[in-house]
Amino acid sequence: MALRLFVLFILLMNNTGLCAEISVFVKTGALVQLDVQTQEPEFLILFWSNEKLENIITYVKETKSVRPNDIYKDRVDFNKTSFSLTLKNMQKKDSGLYKARTSGQSEISLVIYRVTVIDEVEDPVLTVNSSWSSPQPCSFTCNGSNSFFSSVFNGSSCSPEEVTSADNHTLKLSCSEDSITCNYSNPVSSKTVVKKVNELCAPKQFCIRSEL
Ligand SMILES: *[C@@H]1O[C@H](CO)[C@@H](O)[C@H](O)[C@H]1NC(C)=O
Ligand SMILES: *[C@@H]1O[C@H](CO)[C@@H](O)[C@H](O)[C@H]1NC(C)=O
Ligand SMILES: *[C@@H]1O[C@H](CO)[C@@H](O)[C@H](O)[C@H]1NC(C)=O
Ligand SMILES: *[C@@H]1O[C@H](CO)[C@@H](O)[C@H](O)[C@H]1NC(C)=O
Ligand SMILES: *[C@@H]1O[C@H](CO)[C@@H](O)[C@H](O)[C@H]1NC(C)=O
Ligand SMILES: *[C@@H]1O[C@H](CO)[C@@H](O)[C@H](O)[C@H]1NC(C)=O
Repeated sequence: MALRLFVLFILLMNNTGLCAEISVFVKTGALVQLDVQTQEPEFLILFWSNEKLENIITYVKETKSVRPNDIYKDRVDFNKTSFSLTLKNMQKKDSGLYKARTSGQSEISLVIYRVTVIDEVEDPVLTVNSSWSSPQPCSFTCNGSNSFFSSVFNGSSCSPEEVTSADNHTLKLSCSEDSITCNYSNPVSSKTVVKKVNELCAPKQFCIRSEL
């Protein structure tokens, strides 16, 4: 009895473990490789399917034959050793759930992926609001296209240092004595702009004097 419970417990663990959704972010136009996450699965037929439950590929183990769906024909690779699926030239409309399942003595779900296709971030833009005019610190704005913040530089540091928007874009600021760095990133990319403090925050007095 104890042994049977134990076996049942392992099976339950395996099931929940294997069918947990794996989140993957992909850059627009890039490829994504999805693995079955299972060592040597036993099956007769293996399917990779999309959110609409269309089979992307159907693989028959005995004949080692791979049948790709016409919709994906030109941009899909299937590895007959690892059973992984590679989709090329991913577009935003390809975002969604992807699932590997096998059939044989019973139907088994091997893995489910939640794939999100997003664009690379654009370069952030660092602009100055007001230059240094002691005792006022230099105030500037770092703008990532869908979030921005303004900050002040007091000669050695600046704040806030980091904001993350609801759609997973992060703006990060770091200041040293001679440079200001703004880093804009999302799960697939990051861009950084660095400016010299004396270029961005040039004290007004210094400018006037140098013009004389
Ligand atoms: C297929 O997967 C195997 C095992 O992971 C790997 O050694 C092999 O290089 C892969 N083949 C291709 C064409 O990627
Ligand atoms: C700096 O300028 C931006 C817009 O250009 C504004 O939203 C922000 O509040 C300004 N910051 C300060 C500290 O004046
Ligand atoms: C930040 O950049 C975006 C797009 O580049 C622009 O629409 C927006 O007005 C800018 N915001 C500020 C505060 O400069
Ligand atoms: C600038 O601000 C930081 C933190 O707010 C502080 O630790 C530092 O002493 C300040 N520096 C100057 C020169 O005021
Ligand atoms: C942000 O990322 C988390 C995990 O990394 C994900 O669960 C969430 O759906 C993402 N949000 C958006 C809007 O993409
Ligand atoms: C910018 O931030 C991203 C995400 O935290 C990080 O991976 C990257 O190395 C940073 N780039 C620079 C130049 O600091």
